[in-house]
Amino acid sequence: MSTAISPTAYNYKVVRQFAIMTVVWGILGMGLGVFIASQLVWPELNFGLPWTSFGRLRPLHTNLVIFAFGGCALFATSYYVVQRTCQTRLISDSLAAFTFWGWQAVIVGAIVTLPLGYTTTKEYAELEWPLAILLAIVWVTYGLVFFGTITKRKTKHIYVGNWFYGAFIVVTAMLHIVNHASLPVSFFKSYSAYAGATDAMIQWWYGHNAVGFFLTTGFLGMMYYFVPKQAERPIYSYRLSIVHFWALITLYIWAGPHHLHYTALPDWAQSLGMAMSIILLAPSWGGMINGMMTLSGAWHKLRTDPILRFLVVSLAFYGMSTFEGPMMAIKTVNSLSHYTDWTIGHVHAGALGWVAMISIGAIYHMIPKLFGRVQMHSIGLINAHFWLATIGTVLYIASMWVNGITQGLMWRAINDDGTLTYSFVEALQASHPGFIVRALGGAFFASGMLFMAYNVWRTVRASNPAEAEAAEQIAVVGAH
Ligand code: HEM
Ligand code: HEM
Repeated sequence: MSTAISPTAYNYKVVRQFAIMTVVWGILGMGLGVFIASQLVWPELNFGLPWTSFGRLRPLHTNLVIFAFGGCALFATSYYVVQRTCQTRLISDSLAAFTFWGWQAVIVGAIVTLPLGYTTTKEYAELEWPLAILLAIVWVTYGLVFFGTITKRKTKHIYVGNWFYGAFIVVTAMLHIVNHASLPVSFFKSYSAYAGATDAMIQWWYGHNAVGFFLTTGFLGMMYYFVPKQAERPIYSYRLSIVHFWALITLYIWAGPHHLHYTALPDWAQSLGMAMSIILLAPSWGGMINGMMTLSGAWHKLRTDPILRFLVVSLAFYGMSTFEGPMMAIKTVNSLSHYTDWTIGHVHAGALGWVAMISIGAIYHMIPKLFGRVQMHSIGLINAHFWLATIGTVLYIASMWVNGITQGLMWRAINDDGTLTYSFVEALQASHPGFIVRALGGAFFASGMLFMAYNVWRTVRASNPAEAEAAEQIAVVGAH
């Protein structure tokens, strides 16, 4: 028994900061998503200005939702999980604070530079070299804080959630640094170090693994902690989690070429990417089943616990999008789906259904604990948020399926004499109703985030962080 834990057991300050910013960036990023979705319905909303045009705001949307919203959720939960499962404080408060302020600086940099048109033009890697360097420094510091904390753990083994967070941190660093190798020619202009098909291959090795490691592996780390915690059940199979981990990280890294079917990329590379993507279904579903089965004996809790509902429905969408992805990776299917809204629907099945829903569930779980409350201010509001998010996601995905298949079929339809049956504009007109439904679905989802902000604000306002940390201190001391 040791009582020498002082002044407080865990560094919750940085977790609180990242958790609050998750909600703030979520509202901004998704609000912008609704705006660009509306631009596709009413092009007048481009306002005829370069910096408010769809082409410039779209990458700002992706940067805000993936790196600002998703990134802050990953920082917040990983710092929370690593401290609690290792029963030790973060290795350095000042380095952790640097990651918070550095990360926010990168995001503000994106908000300024992307609308002004400064971009590398590489998708999800648009930030020009000064910001890319800052991001790399912040990320390496994140790795030092995370792994440094693991080295001073008071538990014998490393909980599986940390394996997933760890892989996400290491691989993201590798992808970012390799893909951003470039030659700066001025303060905001650089050229990629790679050329032609090699550049494309490296970009999609990065792009797909941004999906695989940023949007999947990190969030699986979240799943392995928050699902068992919220369900108050141990993880269904620890063995499956280990098999799932190694299979997932071994396979994901090969799947990038499925973004480059029917391009100048060598044919064998495309086929290899396709094969690896199909096999990827197995570990993906292994993870989903492991999460779902954790609820064995606790299913009844879904009736009363909307936080658990967020977590479980996110797993259902994870299962759905990781079934759809391998299917879209098949070359013949991809020849229909590529360039169409089907891809956009797939993206948001993963992004809204999986990434956003699991993050929202995890934040609702953490906020009361971080701010010394027993539970969130209003469970009813969480429930309302859950339904807005679920209905919004379904409207988004369903409209994009209809649009995608319509577009793919109309583009490939040919008359007997070999001419195209439909003009591009006709396919666009056919897509218009789907664009309206998507914007509506997005508005549902984004308005749920406003409910969340209000609920979080009320919970925080009534909070006592000192009490929260004292309670943790007692819990940790008691655990010795
Ligand atoms: C086994 C898992 C998965 C496989 C095999 C897979 C496969 C694919 C395929 C074939 C495409 C279309 C490529 C194209 O035609 O250009 C795609 C696009 C995409 N997927 Fe997945 N997917 C999987 C899971 C996910 C998940 C869980 C998410 C999100 C959290 C996601 C996010 C994306 C994104 C963002 C794109 C669009 C990339 C772009 O063109 O900008 N995927 N995926
Ligand atoms: C209210 C919610 C959202 C709305 C209304 C929305 C809307 C949109 C729209 C209109 C596009 C452009 C589609 C196009 O070019 O045709 C887009 C792209 C994208 N969004 Fe969202 N979005 C939302 C939330 C999110 C979230 C939470 C994420 C990630 C966590 C996300 C990730 C992406 C990605 C990766 C793309 C690029 C897809 C590609 O290139 O294939 N979005 N979004």
